[in-house]
Amino acid sequence: MDQIQLRTFSDYEKAYAASINDPVKFWEEIAAAYSWQAPWHKTLEWEFETPAVKWFQGGRLNITENCLDRHLKERGADIALLWEPNDPKEQEVRLTYSELHNEVSRFANVLKAKGVKKGDRVAVYMPMIPELTIGVLACARIGAVHSVVFAGFSSNALADRINDSQCVCVLTADGMYRGSKALPVKATVDEALEQCTSVESVIVVRRDGRDVTMVEGRDCWYHEAVVEVDTDCPAEPMDAEDLLFILYTSGSTGKPKGVVHTCGGYMVYAGYSFKNVFQYERGDVYWCTADVGWITGHSYIIYGPLLNGATTLMFEGVPTFPDAGRFWDVCDKYGVNQFYTAPTAIRALMACGDEFVDRAELGALKVIGSVGEPINAEAWHWYHDRVGRGNCPVVDTWWQTETGGIMISGLGNLSPQRPTYAGRPLPGIQPVLLDAESNEIEGDGVEGYLCIKHPWPSMLRTTYGDHERCKNVYFSNYEGYYFTGDGARREEGMYRIIGRVDDVINVSGHRFGTAEIENAINASPLVTESAVVGYPHDIKGQGIYAYVIVDGATQDVQAVRTSIIDTLVAEIGAIAKPDVIQIVPGLPKTRSGKIMRRILRKVAEGDTTNLGDTSTLLDPSIVEIIKADANQLRK
Ligand code: WTA
Repeated sequence: MDQIQLRTFSDYEKAYAASINDPVKFWEEIAAAYSWQAPWHKTLEWEFETPAVKWFQGGRLNITENCLDRHLKERGADIALLWEPNDPKEQEVRLTYSELHNEVSRFANVLKAKGVKKGDRVAVYMPMIPELTIGVLACARIGAVHSVVFAGFSSNALADRINDSQCVCVLTADGMYRGSKALPVKATVDEALEQCTSVESVIVVRRDGRDVTMVEGRDCWYHEAVVEVDTDCPAEPMDAEDLLFILYTSGSTGKPKGVVHTCGGYMVYAGYSFKNVFQYERGDVYWCTADVGWITGHSYIIYGPLLNGATTLMFEGVPTFPDAGRFWDVCDKYGVNQFYTAPTAIRALMACGDEFVDRAELGALKVIGSVGEPINAEAWHWYHDRVGRGNCPVVDTWWQTETGGIMISGLGNLSPQRPTYAGRPLPGIQPVLLDAESNEIEGDGVEGYLCIKHPWPSMLRTTYGDHERCKNVYFSNYEGYYFTGDGARREEGMYRIIGRVDDVINVSGHRFGTAEIENAINASPLVTESAVVGYPHDIKGQGIYAYVIVDGATQDVQAVRTSIIDTLVAEIGAIAKPDVIQIVPGLPKTRSGKIMRRILRKVAEGDTTNLGDTSTLLDPSIVEIIKADANQLRK
């Protein structure tokens, strides 16, 4: 894969120009760096109306052959996976490429023994332990479609996702460690499965040794099943456009949707983007702190690094346990060369003071990355100066679950740096800024809706079971373009992401639809109606601000708060807890019944003097009450 690495800024410029002049030829050359069981006959076929996008049609491959088998001859003894446990006193795990290959093959054979077949969907609800990565790759090995669900989601959220894609199997663990806590995992699966009929088997990895209930005929222990199987499992031949995985993510409306990625294009782009953004060299130790439950973990803990024969580090714990120096201690312990985290973590650690980062060496760091939300200037400088010691480039990587891989970013130390700007598009990526009338805005110093006008290999193909939704959400607002949902600014060819322009809020890098949170809040018996908006939050980027109308008979404010929080934790998970709950007598609605969110956003931001025109409201006096109460809450 070294042949796909860009080594200078001029390499990048040439590659970018080539990718625009002749995208098909460009991607053919990149794809040729991978191993294919059969060549493709049509590189690209596409239209953005239906939409229908197909890459490398006719090509046959298995992504795990590219992640594992291909490296065995030359890199079999190189470390593939490093695992750092929650508790620094516990022993780490180091798996070479040949060991990981064996482990994946064995897990794949356990899946087969449980009757899981090519095309079946498998839900993966696991803590950050090596078996999570092994289990994901085992699914891909046999052609089963993995649907990883972040282990912080509630049983209801898990059940929704299992049911939406009719999973036949769940991979899980007994419990998990997070900082000083041990939490149940299997018990949550059991609760979820009370609502699911499609699941035939549950495979449970032992982690914290707690007592769990095992359902006869359905549940088995991984450590018992694995001794019964062979270490050899041939990789299932997959069509380039066969499904590789589904990953649920939130949008403006309705329930989270299952973003679908396919085998060939995803592989080609995950490997290419990893190599170039992080400028990985053999022997480097690369660490991405995300959870595998999100797209960042899929593409840049598992697939991107392994496709390149890299050493990827997986961390079970949290940044502040045993103290706020843990990230930097882990960097020193393994000599981490590339470090990739989220602005929310950077801001949280920055707030803990400099002594933790200053006591570390961090001498091996070469590239430091950021992902998931806009990085503010203060956090950027702290990251650059303190963590990077002023001599590591910050790659601010903009992308989405739907894009499969990094779209706009600097490439290691090749690209010019500009704090708060993600930078230039990767080769093959054609971003545009549109105005409200779908016109492309040319030139520099301009802002608009960020869209992409040409397909790239790892773009989503559909939303599982509902292609119409995929069309409506991403391809209908601006005809002929993929719409990202983000607003952006362009300056000297570099893009700065301003944030979401739809009803999606980004809390600590986690995406939520405001409607999704409102529906959950409305499930509380004490609530009549609610409206949720995001507001700027020093650490989380955005906080959740909920305006709720309570049932007329309810007097007890504390009981309302508790009920709302309990309901949200049950419907979505603890990550969706609101930061502010304001009880209101009514919501600012227009005469046609539409909530004027603009006003609610302003109030949540603390800007109550500049609310704009409220004359079209059904009852403008409501705004005065909301304003006064908000000021009261702030005191
Ligand atoms: C936001 C995460 C600014 C953006 C990989 C996008 C960012 C959403 C950046 C996708 C960045 C991601 N700068 N904003 N570098 N990276 N975003 O699907 O609003 O969890 O649309 O994918 O996060 O979130 P998702």
